Amino acid sequence: MGRFSGKTAVITGSGRRKGLGEAIALRLAREGANIVISDIGKAAEPATPAEHIGATDEMEAIAGDIRKAGVAASTKVCDVRDLEQMRALARHAVDTHGSLDIWVNNAGIGYIMKPLLDVTADDWRAVIDVNLTGCFFGIKAAAELMVKAGKGGRIVNIASQAAKSGFPHAQAYTSSKHGLVGLVRSAAIELGAHAITVNNVCPNHVTTGLGAWQNEYFSKVVGAVSVEAYLEAMAGRIPLKRPGKPEDTANAVAFLCSDEAEYITAESMNVSGGEEPH
Ligand SMILES: NC(=O)c1ccc[n+]([C@@H]2O[C@H](COP(=O)([O-])OP(=O)(O)OC[C@H]3O[C@@H](n4cnc5c(N)ncnc54)[C@H](O)[C@@H]3O)[C@@H](O)[C@H]2O)c1
Repeated sequence: MGRFSGKTAVITGSGRRKGLGEAIALRLAREGANIVISDIGKAAEPATPAEHIGATDEMEAIAGDIRKAGVAASTKVCDVRDLEQMRALARHAVDTHGSLDIWVNNAGIGYIMKPLLDVTADDWRAVIDVNLTGCFFGIKAAAELMVKAGKGGRIVNIASQAAKSGFPHAQAYTSSKHGLVGLVRSAAIELGAHAITVNNVCPNHVTTGLGAWQNEYFSKVVGAVSVEAYLEAMAGRIPLKRPGKPEDTANAVAFLCSDEAEYITAESMNVSGGEEPH
């Protein structure tokens, strides 16, 4: 029996290998949670190119790994920009696994990066749609069923260090993640009466698939240095002397989803080795 035995967790954007979503799913499964792996499943248009998304075969492979932990796992394709798809995802958890207890808004895009003067209106909207509106839709879809069930719940957004500090070439990304700080503060007030907590986890850099793309972009385009030199400089300025690992974020999510965190809500918790102090 683990801390999450008998509970069901939905993790959006968890269908990509090496991603934070995969690590969170595996972590919650190891402690007994039944898992719904959800992702967009296929490239849709320029905002979700094939090389950056969790495809359906990848989603199934991750669900297969999770079943090896001895829990139930299912997959459900869902575009977080569509409220009705998010509601269907929440219903899928209840219909397939019997309840919806934990919802992690992890889906995000961080590969539309440009100098401010080159950003188009479509670039801006594409990032806000996934990273901020997608989290709002997730909170709403999850809370609708959690309130109805009357057993409380846990909602966690994967925000970022970019929820607290600015970054060049990332106006929309930084704004979307800062927006999540306000979103949890507001949602937590209304959902507290239902024993539903709503928090953000704010990781600094992690070399996931997205993180590896960002290493290339920031080292070459912004810094004009090698990826190795860029990563070395990054590690040097982090008090704990290394970038984040997917497990660091997964550990923080597991804590916020546990009974031990029942009195913690509206928080934006840094997981940054001390790099982000506020
Ligand atoms: N890697 C980092 O350094 C880092 C740091 C801080 C925060 N984050 C955040 O963590 C989260 C996960 O990032 P990651 O690094 O694991 O990247 P990733 O690319 O591995 O995962 C992101 C997932 O989101 C999915 N996605 C994109 N658009 C979607 C949509 N419309 N609907 C459903 N799913 C969609 C992708 O298919 C992908 O599987 C993101 O929100 C990201 O902003 C990452």
